[in-house]
Amino acid sequence: MSDRSSVPERICLKCGTHIRDERSTVCPQCHSQGLRAATFANSDQQLTLDAHRLIEERRQAGLEGLVGGLEFIVINTEPENQRAAVDELLARTALGVTDAFEDADARTVVLQHPGSADLLITSRKSASPFAGLAEHPRSKHLPSTRLETFAFTCADVAEYTRIQRLRGVSFLSQQPLQGQGSRFIQTRPSVYTGLSIGLFEKTSATTSHRHPSSIDLDWDFEKPALAFLQSIGRLDHAATRVRAEERDAAILEFIALTNYSFDFAIYVKSLNSITNVARLTASDFAMVFTSGIAPFSGLDTSAPTERFTNNYGPRTHHLAWDTEDIDAVYAGLMDDGQGFLLDLVGSPDEGLKQTFTTMSPHTLLVNEYIHRFGVFAGFFTKSNVTLLTAATGTQ
Ligand SMILES: [Fe+2]
Repeated sequence: MSDRSSVPERICLKCGTHIRDERSTVCPQCHSQGLRAATFANSDQQLTLDAHRLIEERRQAGLEGLVGGLEFIVINTEPENQRAAVDELLARTALGVTDAFEDADARTVVLQHPGSADLLITSRKSASPFAGLAEHPRSKHLPSTRLETFAFTCADVAEYTRIQRLRGVSFLSQQPLQGQGSRFIQTRPSVYTGLSIGLFEKTSATTSHRHPSSIDLDWDFEKPALAFLQSIGRLDHAATRVRAEERDAAILEFIALTNYSFDFAIYVKSLNSITNVARLTASDFAMVFTSGIAPFSGLDTSAPTERFTNNYGPRTHHLAWDTEDIDAVYAGLMDDGQGFLLDLVGSPDEGLKQTFTTMSPHTLLVNEYIHRFGVFAGFFTKSNVTLLTAATGTQ
């Protein structure tokens, strides 16, 4: 008679079934091959050690300082949703349309705001390297819709590519692409995040996002005359949700490809959630990774973060916009018909006030609005993180 307690229990990543037969290589319920140990739980001890080791390796490889801050983000949409996605961003952020063009690969609309990373809203006309990543219950109806790329400034894209290839990194093109006053290359999408990291080198004082073959797109957009939009500022951070068991790998991969460091993590045990922050400097755009502490264990028993990666797959959950008057922004958005996942949380005394909108049907992204009050030296507060995470439970 076997001792059941000595058999390592595993969980199916797809359906959450617990598997006690150690000989099983597939889930008896859904036949998925994605099984992992049921006892897995994240901790920061190993991650912190690995992050320090990676930064040293990065320095020795000659990468330190080669990559700078966030230059632009690429959000691809279904072709029929592209213009609506742009109109929505015009009515929800400080961004304005500065260019619209097309070439053989895509139609692209460029949105900009001084001091903030650019947003490129694209719709592809050719095969996508991100194809198949939306095969999840609540994202498969929009197979091409995804925040695809975070692109960072790079002092020398050719040298970066040479060094990273030696370290085993794969790129979407053999050579850097020549743009108008720029060079650009991007990595293959990550298996942990579904994201590509782009490297953008300015080679002239006047750069654009166009390729040499780009032609004008005859599309007109109008910025709505909404007073509260003047109180919205730059992109503060983005948060990407990853599976619990892939948290370390996702963060370490990002550190290896950029000049970012792992800064800190906030654990919310009651919601089985970790908010992990990677930073370049205290004033730069921050890259946030959110994961479970323990992995997905089924829709009925998992908390919001793990449910989200099950429902949508690992992907960027929200873009957070800085504001100097969040009360006015919140009231203005409500008047304009915007839905929210929760009311404003936090206070000037706590140093931080935030909220989440509902998810955009055009981009599958949530907008966060964040007001940092002058005396607040921290980045997040645990109470706000808890309330914001809980509010995503309906997604
Ligand atoms: Fe956030």
